[in-house]
Amino acid sequence: MPIERTLAIIKPDAVAAGNAGHIIALLEREGFEIVAMKKVTLTEAQARAFYAVHRARPFYDSLVRFMTSGPVIPVVLEREDAISALRKVMGATNPANAEPGTVRKLYATDIEKNAIHGSDAPGTAAVEKPFFFSSLELG
Ligand code: CMP
Repeated sequence: MPIERTLAIIKPDAVAAGNAGHIIALLEREGFEIVAMKKVTLTEAQARAFYAVHRARPFYDSLVRFMTSGPVIPVVLEREDAISALRKVMGATNPANAEPGTVRKLYATDIEKNAIHGSDAPGTAAVEKPFFFSSLELG
């Protein structure tokens, strides 16, 4: 399995609830190394751009409102097979369907306020990492 980097975002619900540290600790226990991390509050334009792939979906406006409702913590993570490993440890989008022990089972509220985002494929990771981090920050 190749060493990969992926982008996670700890979402406003998890940051506001004080769960960011717990989520980072869980990810480190799963073998992810933190390459870069910051705390930012997205503007509406930034949230719309980040989730542009979902712009035709009925939940898009609500998702943008949620993602701009407070600070988020984007994190670039590295490990073997990082992209699919992160998806597995995040759990299903809807926490009602998430496996026990996953981030969303432990910390998500509902299908929208679901604690964490993770890039879903290598092409997505390649776009999402530089959305938040410069090449200088990524080394
Ligand atoms: P994420 O993995 O960041 O990708 C898109 C986000 O839209 C998703 O997590 C949820 O926060 C949000 N969302 C809200 N409703 C839905 C839905 N019905 N299906 C998928 N994603 C949804």
